[in-house]
Amino acid sequence: MTIQKHQFDAVIVGGGGAGLRASLQLAEAGVKVAVLSKVFPTRSHTVAAQGGIAAALGNVSGDNWLWHMYDTIKGSDYLGDQDAIEFMCKNAAKAIIELEHFGMPFDRLENGKIFQRPFGGMTQNYGEKPISRTCAVADRTGHAMLHTLYQRNIRANTQFFVEWFALDLIRDAEGDVLGVIALEIETGDIHILEAKTTLLATGGAGRIFQASTNAFINTGDGLGMAARAGLPLQDMEFWQFHPTGVLHAGVLITEGVRGEGGYLVNSEGERFMERYAPNAKDLASRDVISRATATEIKQGRGVGKNKDAVYLKLDHLGEELINKRLPGIREIAKTFANVDPTVDPIPVVPTAHYMMGGIPTNLDGQVVEYLNGSEQSVKGLYAVGECACVSVHGANRLGSNSLLDLVVFGKAAGDKMLAEIKTGIAHKPLPANAADMTLARIDRLDTQQSGESVSEVGADMRKSMQTNCGVFRFPDLLDEGVGAINTIAERAQRLQIKDKSKVFNTARVEALELDNLMEVALATMHTAHNRKESRGAHAREDYAERDDENWLSHSLYYKNDHKLVYKPVRLKPLTVEPFVPKARTY
Ligand code: FUM
Repeated sequence: MTIQKHQFDAVIVGGGGAGLRASLQLAEAGVKVAVLSKVFPTRSHTVAAQGGIAAALGNVSGDNWLWHMYDTIKGSDYLGDQDAIEFMCKNAAKAIIELEHFGMPFDRLENGKIFQRPFGGMTQNYGEKPISRTCAVADRTGHAMLHTLYQRNIRANTQFFVEWFALDLIRDAEGDVLGVIALEIETGDIHILEAKTTLLATGGAGRIFQASTNAFINTGDGLGMAARAGLPLQDMEFWQFHPTGVLHAGVLITEGVRGEGGYLVNSEGERFMERYAPNAKDLASRDVISRATATEIKQGRGVGKNKDAVYLKLDHLGEELINKRLPGIREIAKTFANVDPTVDPIPVVPTAHYMMGGIPTNLDGQVVEYLNGSEQSVKGLYAVGECACVSVHGANRLGSNSLLDLVVFGKAAGDKMLAEIKTGIAHKPLPANAADMTLARIDRLDTQQSGESVSEVGADMRKSMQTNCGVFRFPDLLDEGVGAINTIAERAQRLQIKDKSKVFNTARVEALELDNLMEVALATMHTAHNRKESRGAHAREDYAERDDENWLSHSLYYKNDHKLVYKPVRLKPLTVEPFVPKARTY
């Protein structure tokens, strides 16, 4: 097979918010930057973000980035790194103003300032009462952000490779990353994109679960690439279940609904969050609300034919407000739940939404390894956004902090990549066997004489993750889950594409995506099995309490032998006093 080669200063894998913020920084500085995306960039999953982006602008009431920092650390159940959280919260206002200047059409208050709404876990004065901190474009904030960034990139001459699927990193004997190998989906051709700097911005992997708010494209591609290149995945046991996914469909109903005054009720019409979180109620953090909902359903107070959901009630907000601030969710409710929320409540369930873990990085977006007790960057490799773990979300992310993470660290990574490129570094020679592993992965799909279909193996993986590693984690289910997921991973090695004469390259893409999903599923199950405490979104039935003495540490999972290493949380902020771990109540 002939492999075509291309050279760039920077190659960015992923055309969502994080990738496009970084590429903009580079393209505007005039360096040669390529963005690879397996879908048209404005179809990246950032487009689905609804409720908003957090920043302590104080447009509705007094605010302070330190309060935002405190809320984020508490929300993370103290697993977030405090230097990274300080960096993000301190730079939030600047990031919003910058987006506004890029042309992002934020909603406005009467006085013309950017509209802000309350979101879960966001408070005034270190937990005193809920605050309006989340800037929004109705309930289509991600859509507005992604289109704004895409248009700015077009203006800056970023070179897009659309419907190109990155398969593997190229790493040389010294451990430096020299670019990626990619599949051009339309032609099936394989390309090498050599780069002085490579950024992974491939988003999440929520498709490891059966019920997910995530798009079908969220298959953990960057994580699979990193794991196969011998790099660790950090904190993979922490998965956020969003409290309000539409029953059976999984589609997201924004937390902005509760921010605007909507609330959850059980089959007895009780506003049950008052019992679980007496102060914050429906604006407690997501892990708390998802567990409360799961408990209500388990104890027989669910709604609907199978009593397997709760209701999200918002009719009292009135049609005018719903049409103005929540038009998208009215459409979603009608389409996917067959209810008009101006009249009837929406049946919702906790649904896999966000991966707190990812590829470990420092504050400049450089991928780091933890060697001999210290973090060392991998030369040439960066990661940003949901595929990365910097770690600002720790064990539980606060809603509207993810869009912020994308733009703050997207810019930081772009700046650092630019600095690296400007040192005048040359392209290093590629290893002779650069593409061997990738070609073998593709070859097995085309030459395998017997094996299972991608859909069968994928369905079993999703079922196991949902059953064995969900909102609550039980010791027997985790034991069973480790065995099950290891077996499914072996089956995934023997995938077969049936009737090859009739397949399109998309069938190959689905098989190669399953390779990536399997890496994420394995990492999740093994780390969840090993963490013997409850923290944030990781709620174990047999270890119900947080255990700071033994577990205030990040997990690092390695593909080889499922090795696990732990490294300490960075509890020291950049400039302010640390927030000392304490009991977390809402
Ligand atoms: O509920 C939402 O609008 C989701 C926001 C987020 O995950 O940040």
